[in-house]
Amino acid sequence: MILSPRHPLQAGLTHDSRLVRAYRGERSDTTPVWFMRQAGRSLPEYRELRVGTRMLDACLDPAMAAEITLQPVRRHRVDAGIFFSDIVVPLKLVGVDVEIQPGKGPVFGRAYGDAAGVAELTAIDPALLDETSAPIAEAVERTIAELATLTSPGAPTSTPLIGFAGAPFTLAAYLTEGGPSKDHLAARTLMHADPGAWRALMEWTAELTGRFLRTQVLAGASAAQLFDSWAGALSLADYEAHVAPASAAALAHVHDLEYEVPGADAAVAAARRSVPVVHFGVGTGELLGAMRGVGVDVVGVDYRVPLDVAALRVGEGVPLQGNLDPALLAAPWPVLERAVREVLRRGRVAPAHVFNLGHGVPPETDPESLTRVVELVHEAGR
Ligand code: CP3
Repeated sequence: MILSPRHPLQAGLTHDSRLVRAYRGERSDTTPVWFMRQAGRSLPEYRELRVGTRMLDACLDPAMAAEITLQPVRRHRVDAGIFFSDIVVPLKLVGVDVEIQPGKGPVFGRAYGDAAGVAELTAIDPALLDETSAPIAEAVERTIAELATLTSPGAPTSTPLIGFAGAPFTLAAYLTEGGPSKDHLAARTLMHADPGAWRALMEWTAELTGRFLRTQVLAGASAAQLFDSWAGALSLADYEAHVAPASAAALAHVHDLEYEVPGADAAVAAARRSVPVVHFGVGTGELLGAMRGVGVDVVGVDYRVPLDVAALRVGEGVPLQGNLDPALLAAPWPVLERAVREVLRRGRVAPAHVFNLGHGVPPETDPESLTRVVELVHEAGR
């Protein structure tokens, strides 16, 4: 399906941005940069805006979600906005009892770690999202309207918005446990103890999270990132057998969304491209090849595997995103500077590189450090 004429990719506003060019494997004037969790507690303007509003209420308030998404773009001049939301938002939108507790993460009214729990969840029709996603679409629309006015220096196009969703396994890790856990034991037990219930849970979650991602892309996101944050807890064999098919099913909800490449000769049928998709997880060094294999354009790498090593694991021709250790953001500038240059150097092995952290921005980060990193990447990443 072709995206609407107003979509930034179809309108030709973001196709030639640094980010989208890198995601299709091309290098441009310099290396694009954005940060996972660039919106959030490291910014005083975020903390001020959030006073008195619970996390999930902020996600469902279109004006607030748009404003929070834009704050780091205005401040740091990063090459992309990442939509302010959360991986559990689609669960909330279909009526699952979930809250986000500060300092802890998503907490559910119960754990869904057995067949009865899974049956309770899968009785909910994921298509319910069609009726409840309006605040998400509206927040995306408000965000891209202002992003069209925020061009990166040297990149005379609209700043693209990245949409995102949690991968089925990462959501299942929270659902089966009823909240955050260290080793995701409940999920790893269920996949072997009751493979039928596991498959049902993964299929349901894939459809729900896939629809959430599709809503963001239809409303104007120029790229999509699937976070399988906790997949690194799995062996390669378990990942391939019990998880990868569900991630592929989630992404099928966006793979058919295409745009016509601007400038294509009017006499010839316009070349079509699908919206670029990035796949990221923490501690997934052993899984990088398999994560690429679920059908993504770009692989996000955490800080444990150097980018040149990651390039060998994902295979030739795949753009990479990453992977400065977030801990370095609190180091003295000369140490941080050296580490940024080292990430850029190793990233040159890939056809294209999008600079990012190896995981999210720590809440206590001095925002000045992030702005300096953006400036350095733009200057040294030429
Ligand atoms: O800038 C961005 O990256 C945009 C928004 C974003 C949030 N959550 C906002 C958020 C994104 C992409 C996410 C995804 C997300 N949520 C993931 C995948 C990425 C990852 O970090 O691995 C996961 C695992 C979650 C679940 C979750 N939500 C956790 C673990 C937490 C942190 C809890 C805490 O307080 O330490 C949340 C809450 C959350 N999501 C916050 C933000 C800004 C903090 C809430 C606050 O500011 O009160």
